[in-house]
Amino acid sequence: MKIDVLLGLQWGDEGKGKITDVLTPEYDIIARFQGGPNAGHTLEFNGIKHVLHTIPSGIFHPEKINIIGNGVIIDPCTLAKEIKKLRERGAEPTVNLLISKRAHLIVPTHRLLDTVQEAAKGASKIGSTLKGIGPAYTDKTARHGLRIGDVNSPDFMQKFNVQKEQHMKIIQSFNPDPEILKIENMDPDSYEKEWFEGLRYISDIPLIDSEIFLNKSLKEGKKVLAEGAQGTMLDVDFGTYPFVTSSNTIASGVCSGLGVAPQKIGRVFGVFKAYCTRVGSGPFPTELHDHTGEQLRIKGNEFGSTTGRPRRCGWIDLPALKFAVMLNGVTDLVMMKSDVLDDFDTVSVCTHYKIGDAQFEFPAFETLNSDIEPILENHKGWKTCICNFREWNELPEQFKNYIAYIENALETPVSVVSLGPNRDQTIVRKSL
Ligand code: GDP
Ligand code: IMO
Ligand code: MG
Repeated sequence: MKIDVLLGLQWGDEGKGKITDVLTPEYDIIARFQGGPNAGHTLEFNGIKHVLHTIPSGIFHPEKINIIGNGVIIDPCTLAKEIKKLRERGAEPTVNLLISKRAHLIVPTHRLLDTVQEAAKGASKIGSTLKGIGPAYTDKTARHGLRIGDVNSPDFMQKFNVQKEQHMKIIQSFNPDPEILKIENMDPDSYEKEWFEGLRYISDIPLIDSEIFLNKSLKEGKKVLAEGAQGTMLDVDFGTYPFVTSSNTIASGVCSGLGVAPQKIGRVFGVFKAYCTRVGSGPFPTELHDHTGEQLRIKGNEFGSTTGRPRRCGWIDLPALKFAVMLNGVTDLVMMKSDVLDDFDTVSVCTHYKIGDAQFEFPAFETLNSDIEPILENHKGWKTCICNFREWNELPEQFKNYIAYIENALETPVSVVSLGPNRDQTIVRKSL
């Protein structure tokens, strides 16, 4: 069998969690391959909203296996909180959650480093979630990170303390205001205590060689879905660098983040909103600073799942989407939050970027650092509440026209449309 992939095509928060949960019945295994607690994946069913950060979004299906892959970075404190919440809600992750031994740990001082490094950037700050993502991936690639599979080795505490000492030297070199040296409103020592408690709490989740487990499962004919975090435009290589996250969020990240070979990749589901959002700093060509942007934010409830920050909102950006479809080899598009546009007389689409007289079909290198003008094309809105439709044929013509236009521009079919946050507010158009 091949491994299918589901990932974000924009700047994150496209609705990956909801669609992973919707597609889980079709799979045996759901695996996260990168990112960490910077992610916030929202699922809604039976009137309850769940937000997952490190745990794959297949966890509410007890008969399906969920894997936190080697490419993910784990903060034991956040993971313990997630697991406690799942248990309160009747799920039992020891039954269906596995963790790669090779996954790296986010230690408390990674979070302090994130804080002081962001503060030092001043106005050019990235808008990090301050979960320690950048510093933890930096230590991984610098080859002095700590892995979750190392926690029971006799020299773990010694390595932890050496790393902490090195981090503290860097932190002190920023001469930080002691007030900012807090984690989750706690002083670092109290947080460290909680971190170790978290590590103990999660110790009943099995640690495995997930690359071997996954390849064996594929050989046995099991169906696997890899769930991405963040989005293509936040990819460390191809996103709006330096305003990106620190991992490869694109389909190639599945190979390194789970240990599967490129020819094993099957379908790639590219998830995007019918408009566009971004949280944090950095280029956002179609951003709307006016009443329309505010309308999108309110109707779309565009506030971060992890940090609660208001998301920046704008029209759909076809050059960025074309780029994302190309980089990921998207086979199926998944259009989210279409219902948010229900009341709009006009729905605009950015077809190109312009810098002076030059037009760009893709986000070229120079478009990322220049003042670019989005070229917009207007489409008639559908002006119908679509959130209760469950059949493709019921959907208004103008809405279907909007989808056909996007499919044509991206040369890829829209296989799934989402019409609301709930699990059942979804139309799967093409047989999966
Ligand atoms: P993720 O990080 O890609 O999983 O996305 P988030 O969970 O951070 O953000 C998506 C938000 O949109 C969540 O609050 C979802 O409940 C919500 N959502 C998902 N699909 C839809 C949809 O089709 N319509 C509406 N109105 N909300 C949706
Ligand atoms: P999900 O998986 C949206 C953004 C941050 C910041 C930049 C770097 O829920 O889609 P980091 O903490 O990674 O160093 O932050 O990336 N960011 C996200 N934006 N959704 C996410 O995840 C994000 N994860 C990180 O806001 O701009
Ligand atoms: Mg999110």
